[in-house]
Amino acid sequence: MRIAELLASGERNVEVVAKGWVRTKRGNKNVAFIALNDGSTIHNIQVVAETAAFDEALLKSVTTGACLKVTGTLVDSPASGQPVEIQARTIEIYGGADPETYPLQKKGHTLEFLREIAHLRPRTNTFGAVFRIRHAMAYAIHKYFNDRGFVYWNSPLITGSDAEGAGAMFQVTTLDVANPPRKEDGSVDYAQDFFGRSTNLTVSGQLEGELAAMSLGLIYTFGPTFRAENSNTPRHLAEFWMVEPEMAFYEIGENMDLAEDFIKYLVNYALENCADDLAFLEKMYDKELTERLRFVIANDFVRLGYTEGVKILEEARDKKGVKFEFPVFWGADLASEHERYLVEQHFKRPVILTDYPKEIKAFYMKQNDDGKTVRAMDVLFPKIGEIIGGSEREADYDKLVARMQEVGVPVESMQWYLDTRRFGSAPHSGFGLGFERLVLFVTGMTNIRDVIPFPRTPKNAEF
Ligand code: 4AD
Ligand code: MG
Repeated sequence: MRIAELLASGERNVEVVAKGWVRTKRGNKNVAFIALNDGSTIHNIQVVAETAAFDEALLKSVTTGACLKVTGTLVDSPASGQPVEIQARTIEIYGGADPETYPLQKKGHTLEFLREIAHLRPRTNTFGAVFRIRHAMAYAIHKYFNDRGFVYWNSPLITGSDAEGAGAMFQVTTLDVANPPRKEDGSVDYAQDFFGRSTNLTVSGQLEGELAAMSLGLIYTFGPTFRAENSNTPRHLAEFWMVEPEMAFYEIGENMDLAEDFIKYLVNYALENCADDLAFLEKMYDKELTERLRFVIANDFVRLGYTEGVKILEEARDKKGVKFEFPVFWGADLASEHERYLVEQHFKRPVILTDYPKEIKAFYMKQNDDGKTVRAMDVLFPKIGEIIGGSEREADYDKLVARMQEVGVPVESMQWYLDTRRFGSAPHSGFGLGFERLVLFVTGMTNIRDVIPFPRTPKNAEF
């Protein structure tokens, strides 16, 4: 049985086996108390070993980080805060951990230090909790969509186009980059590259997701995406996971309804299924965590046009005590400080901002009749800023091509995409949820590097 099951077991005075890693060992010359954890729960099980019954050298090797197999009797624990403990009969050491060199000794470690040992940090309480919650959120995402008839769709990770324009791309090549084959005019000859053309890692699965929505109706992608932006912030990764539902026949209002319902479902799922891990994170890092989660579920998100949003920010700018680093005016792309002002100070609840100027949004968004704005929607969250970006899509072939030409998207190489509008076009909408930003919000962690096992950020891809 795993330790989570042992702790929940109603049986007593039965023989059990526990396997796991030693968190701590304490005791006296008569008895040793070993706290064992196997990753199945935030809680440890206490193993009680009478020193007289064990080889001294063996007990000496039971150090923090060592991995053990223990057999013994499951009994009520006299200690408070734990229902049961194991009276050890045998202890086998699978692998020791030298106290001189094992970095995760009992004392608390900073999150910065733990980032440097990302390969060992899942053994800490904090990262055990975070990664169990991350898993629960991934499961809940699939469950949410499956229960509603959406098909899980896989867009390619290696793409031949930079259609989205969402961010700088990572090139994928097998050419010798130091000395690539060149054409007569001196430019690199990508015809000799693996795919016979230049290719990149995808910044978003949306465009291929649109193809799927135009045949399967309701789809979602959930996979890694890559952006070579040099943004060293607590909310950006170069490799992050995105969830992108795409829905035939949805207009922007239905898109907003889905986004709000989806996030509330996920937050609620965490509260219902990750209570122990959330309680730990709340105690250690964020005293308002579950209160904030409950608040999001209980309250309607504000729905507000970009134009009104900018007015509020312009008025706020002149108020005492408000200081924005970046300028705000109609047409400006909002910075995270502006988004967070609206959410945290003005409305004090999540905001869905819509109808942005077309110049600051992607070419595929449906154009409004005013000729200036598009049916974009960004969901803005406390502590996070933008957690979702999405839109109704331009379904009209001529308008779409005209916009592509205006902004310089290569129409020729995008015929596969334009076919959705050429043959049986339909109104449709979708959005992208940044998975790590969701996990940030739900765990209350403050740096995105702490919610993904191996963060990829500028100058950091060590293992
Ligand atoms: O707003 P974005 O760029 O939208 C798209 O990529 C659309 N194709 C989505 C769609 O409509 N299907 O990104 C969507 C979300 C953002 O709101 C943010 O949560 C997250 O992805 N995101 C990042 N997360 C971590 N690191 C980064 N560098 C991110 N860039 C975007
Ligand atoms: Mg965005």
